[in-house]
Amino acid sequence: MGEERKFTAVKGVKDILPDAVAVWREVERRAREQFALFGFREIVLPIFEKSGVFIKAVGEGTDIVQKEMYTFEDQGGESITLRPEGTASCVRAYIEHSMFHPPGNLTKLFYLGPMFRRERPQAGRYRQFFQIGAELFGAAEPAADADIIHLLHLFLGSIGVKSPKLLLNSLGDDKCRGPFKEALVEFLAKNRGHLCENCRERYEKNPLRVFDCKVEKCVELMKTAPTLDKHYCPECSAHFSKVRELLGRLGVPYELNPRMVRGLDYYNRTVFEVTAEGLGSQNSIAGGGRYDDLVKNSGGPAVPATGFAVGMERLVESIGAPLATDHGRPDVFVVYMNEAEEAACGLSAELRVGGVSVERLYKPTGFKNQFGKADKSGARYALIIGGDELAKKTAVIKDLSTGAQVETPFGSVAEFFKNGGGARPPAKP
Ligand code: HAM
Repeated sequence: MGEERKFTAVKGVKDILPDAVAVWREVERRAREQFALFGFREIVLPIFEKSGVFIKAVGEGTDIVQKEMYTFEDQGGESITLRPEGTASCVRAYIEHSMFHPPGNLTKLFYLGPMFRRERPQAGRYRQFFQIGAELFGAAEPAADADIIHLLHLFLGSIGVKSPKLLLNSLGDDKCRGPFKEALVEFLAKNRGHLCENCRERYEKNPLRVFDCKVEKCVELMKTAPTLDKHYCPECSAHFSKVRELLGRLGVPYELNPRMVRGLDYYNRTVFEVTAEGLGSQNSIAGGGRYDDLVKNSGGPAVPATGFAVGMERLVESIGAPLATDHGRPDVFVVYMNEAEEAACGLSAELRVGGVSVERLYKPTGFKNQFGKADKSGARYALIIGGDELAKKTAVIKDLSTGAQVETPFGSVAEFFKNGGGARPPAKP
């Protein structure tokens, strides 16, 4: 094969073009606003980590670790992985920077950024995708689960997600999961012939993972499998009841789904996912839950935690009505004749220095064409310098939405736009 000359993006990876970026930034702005109301502060985490960070936290039996991680050995022989998710990194940073001091301290962090999973690409499923995540460390109480779900609920509401549905479950803890796993292994052993090859291999070690298998025959079989809700210990049962009671009081609707186990191993007790309408099979826009043992299992003290992550691409797809965004519209479009080049250049510079955004052509075309471009740009004003104006050293400022215009000496143009332009529309002619 000849050398590739015209490259395209890697499969499953996409460019986010300027119009979409405007929407993304607006979503992020609203996320930041909501997170601040709940006391969350932003942390910027590395895009790659030592592979062990994810293998240990996400779990060796998961699809993410078994099949989907972008892992490579760097020049120093160290195994590095592009992060498939943010929780493991956040826990690593939480421990590394001793954020658990003083004991009993609540730490609330959020992060934004790209994640990488080598999944089979399809609509809504990418190999590089963006997440907005929040993690709350230091609270074992059901009120923390309810708060984190309430935060997610308010955030999704603030951007107008179409019919979000919150699915809720509790995975219990080690105490109640033991007897349940025994019952489940027994069921799976009896139905071994109905399992896919992968599940046949892993079910004895990690039977809960079979609930997460997407292979049709496993999905069918698991519809009749025993569920954990019959096995909760009194503490887990009380915790889950309280979470549900609080969600009711907060006005957060939910649906119980006793078969939801999530695709990562670190969870215990409360887990949840949010689905939205109109996304096809990849309809999960957010997921999260409690992970009380992860900090300890990652070498830190025993600090309980809970959190969630939202998938940006799916989230944006699920927005019902268009978000009001700033599409980079200029305040002013300069329409000028060739001879007025110097004045156009000087006035553009003066306005920009004064904080007014200006667009103009570097090689002016006919006025009709320039006005067409001014309209298309969405500019509020045209600053017109024709032959008459140039002779008088004036410019016409035209409000493109009303058609009103005034003629102003060059020296007063900046003054007119002093407050960023648009604050004082010119009087009607
Ligand atoms: P997750 O369910 O694996 O959880 O991912 C969260 C969200 O990221 C999903 O609901 C989905 O919207 C999006 N997502 C995941 N994979 C893809 C993909 N291949 N393409 C597009 N979007 C995707 C986590 O990552 C946990 N760290 C969440 C968490 C935080 N749990 C506790 N704290």
